[in-house]
Amino acid sequence: MKLEKMDAFFSARLDGYDKHMRTEIEGAEEFYPYTASLLPKEEGMNILDLGCGTGLELEDYFVSGGKAKIVGIDLSQDMLTALKNKFVGKEIELYCASYFDVPFGIRRFDAAVSVESLHHFKPAQKLGLYAKLASALSDVGYFVLTDYFAESENAERFYFSESERLKREQQLDPNTFYHYDTPLTVDHEIELLTQAGFFEVRLMKRWGNTCTLFSRR
Ligand SMILES: C[S@@+](CC[C@H](N)C(=O)[O-])C[C@H]1O[C@@H](n2cnc3c(N)ncnc32)[C@H](O)[C@@H]1O
Repeated sequence: MKLEKMDAFFSARLDGYDKHMRTEIEGAEEFYPYTASLLPKEEGMNILDLGCGTGLELEDYFVSGGKAKIVGIDLSQDMLTALKNKFVGKEIELYCASYFDVPFGIRRFDAAVSVESLHHFKPAQKLGLYAKLASALSDVGYFVLTDYFAESENAERFYFSESERLKREQQLDPNTFYHYDTPLTVDHEIELLTQAGFFEVRLMKRWGNTCTLFSRR
């Protein structure tokens, strides 16, 4: 299996991406609207979307009457262009960048959301990101994470060792993001979020390997 750079991987699959996500990922018909339903709806609210892609979670958010201002970050300009074309007239600010690099500001957001994006990274990378995110949320802010999780610790270890093996064999730059799924178990993700400064981290719902976690700042 030849690993592809993260942004190129998603750009190359843009055609048919929305249909694939909505119809071939277990639980997608429920987890997108469910995730959107947990976000604040009122005008004047600010929501940060990490790895917004083509904005599937935002489609459900706007359909349900959401009026917050959205800041979306994604590595793939092609995904962002598709998002922009869907939501003409909505208050959305987009950054084509890595969420590990973009400063989020302090107490700037009422909520943050991320769907099917963060399962590509190591715990050490996520810990810094989650600490930055916690600081960017208001005192009553929260983070809704809907993502793909490993079914066991053995599976988690296997994904990480395979990822390292493939990168080594293909002599890839360790500082570049390549697409390979390395999900954590729900328990490990909860530990990480707690360690980063979130509290009341709760598993809200599960659909196969996708779960929604809700974390208060
Ligand atoms: C499977 S898609 C999910 C997109 C959208 N949230 C959804 O559920 O349809 C994962 C997205 O995360 C983005 N992504 C991956 N790593 C990223 C990073 N470090 N910074 C920003 N975006 C990233 C990818 O470019 C891709 O668009």
